[in-house]
Amino acid sequence: MSPRKILVTSALPYANGPIHLGHLVEYIQTDIWARFQRMVGNTCYYVCADDAHGTPIMLKAEAEGITPLQLLAQVGKQHRRDFNNFLVAFDNYHSTHSPENRRFSELIYARLKQGGHIVRRTISQFFDPQKQMFLPDRFIRGTCPVCQAADQYGDNCEVCGGTYSPTDLIDPVSVVSGAKPQQRESEQLFFKLGNFRDFLAAWLEQNHTQKEIANKQKELFAEPLLEWDISRNSPYWGFEIPDEPGKFFYVWMDAPIGYLASFQNLCAREGLDFDEFFKPDSRCELYHFIGKDIARFHTLFWPAQLHGGGFRTPSAVWCHGFLTVNGKKMSKRHGTFITADTYFRHLAPEYLRYYFAAKLDDGIDDLDLNLDDFKARVNSDLVGKLVNIASRCAGFISKQFGGRLSDALPDLPMYREFVAAGDTIAAAYEQRQYNQAMRRIMALADRANQYVDAAKPWVLVKQPENLATVQSICTQGLNLFRILIIFLKPVLPATAEQVEKFLNLPPQSWRDAKHPLLACQIERYHPLLTRIEQCSIEAMVEHSKTTAATATTATATAAETSPRAADAESPVAGQISGEQFARVDLRIAKIVAAEYVEGADKLVRLRLDIGGQQRTVLAGIKTAYSPEELNGRLVVMVANLAPRKMKFGVSEGMLLAAGPGGKDIFLLSPDQGAVPGMRVK
Ligand code: 2FM
Ligand code: ZN
Repeated sequence: MSPRKILVTSALPYANGPIHLGHLVEYIQTDIWARFQRMVGNTCYYVCADDAHGTPIMLKAEAEGITPLQLLAQVGKQHRRDFNNFLVAFDNYHSTHSPENRRFSELIYARLKQGGHIVRRTISQFFDPQKQMFLPDRFIRGTCPVCQAADQYGDNCEVCGGTYSPTDLIDPVSVVSGAKPQQRESEQLFFKLGNFRDFLAAWLEQNHTQKEIANKQKELFAEPLLEWDISRNSPYWGFEIPDEPGKFFYVWMDAPIGYLASFQNLCAREGLDFDEFFKPDSRCELYHFIGKDIARFHTLFWPAQLHGGGFRTPSAVWCHGFLTVNGKKMSKRHGTFITADTYFRHLAPEYLRYYFAAKLDDGIDDLDLNLDDFKARVNSDLVGKLVNIASRCAGFISKQFGGRLSDALPDLPMYREFVAAGDTIAAAYEQRQYNQAMRRIMALADRANQYVDAAKPWVLVKQPENLATVQSICTQGLNLFRILIIFLKPVLPATAEQVEKFLNLPPQSWRDAKHPLLACQIERYHPLLTRIEQCSIEAMVEHSKTTAATATTATATAAETSPRAADAESPVAGQISGEQFARVDLRIAKIVAAEYVEGADKLVRLRLDIGGQQRTVLAGIKTAYSPEELNGRLVVMVANLAPRKMKFGVSEGMLLAAGPGGKDIFLLSPDQGAVPGMRVK
């Protein structure tokens, strides 16, 4: 069979927030699949990009006093760093705010327009008179028209689950300014999805996505298919629509086109043939990995956009479920809203890659990261089973035999059995049933350990006449270990690379497992993976609470956050309502004692006087201030923050400071005349 040519993508993360563990489920799932394809000899490109447009990004930049371009540069850098840390190896990471994306968006739009698929309609929308902008549904809140619950989004109620139009909300308020929105009419451009009805109905029948997902979309076919509003009025951060001054492409119009743009950018850099992948009759394969929440965009709008735009449609759109942590939605308050960066500071990324692989299948059920199970599973499988094989055999080979493996395997049939299991394991990877692949690999690891247990090289080694047997037993053990590492390489690429160095091997492909490693020299063994300690998990959870709490502005709420925190049209991450802000009790405080916290890199312990009452606060400002500088100083504190138990003690409040961190943390200094206890308004 000739090698396949494959392009895979993961959903493009919004450029207004950090990558968190919920995102990583998908990037790790896709990366494992792409690495597996390359290992079996297929050509597989993996591209992604920042999703750079839309109202939240515009408002976030404004709130931070920077331009959207500056925000994109900052966030883009963090996203790349996080992906790199988690060994997510894109062939290209681009941005939807790119010349390629503008060109493809304009091209697809022009072709849709030419094909008669774009229509103008006048619609009435909410307008913020203070901000002078039209408001997306998620930027309007009010009382639910169904159950009367206060402070609900403009499109659905979190209390009763009702869906409605923002114009039905009682007492609507703009989330952006707090003003009462007005209804205004304006002309918008709509994509006539109904023109693709037959095409989409057939596409959904052809196994291009999971059955549940296809069925969900098919429900819509009972009615005429909706027309999709693809334009937004200025001010909007995005691409202006050609010949439509003041109108911009809606972020979801140009976001998936970013897949093409990123691939085109790669093609230009590496001299690849873009058309071979995207011409309508392309024989190359195209797979999109996404979360089930954005299935509609990818299984209705996107195939229609591609088809109407003269491009091939996806071979498949594969959806996964959401991540829960300890059985619940990720929560900042519980320290389970864990960013990629926070995790990385406490634990090894390959542990998470393995745990996700051990739980992922090809379905759309949610996946739970139970932190106790995570520790137990990693310690038992990776350390107790896998690495144990090597650590039990390698020492004898280096000490007794100068690092030389024997000339033959004592149990060749067993070796062949391990190799043969590779077919089932490969099929499981191919079908995205990584949980089955991991189960099979760990069953083999058990067998390898049983082999070493039964052969007892540590007993045999005591008799000089048994030395040759010891060498061959350990050679067998290390060969079995090598096969398992090859099978695990898509999941544990860094460990596999270390093992390749240890065994003096070039980068291993799937096929290499067939040939045993004999009569050759290996290097000294160094421990590959160590056990997860409970304290690392606890420190990560505490850190996650404080990264939420030590925000550098006064937006330190403990809001629960959904796994996909940064919805395109939900309020900017971290934004709170005026009412919520009013509940924050800000007080002038005098620092009456300050000291370093033993063992902590960033904390100082402060005793704060707020006019008759004293509080102890652990503040992460050691990098910028010494205790001497702090003593006697007036600061602003949040006085009604619930006490938090941290690793170094309980903190009973928070100081307000601004700045990027390190030496640049600037405490808010009250004006002259402020006295401890005074309320800050
Ligand atoms: O839901 C999201 O996070 C979107 N930024 C995903 C976009 S995927 C693609 F269409 F660009
Ligand atoms: Zn309701």
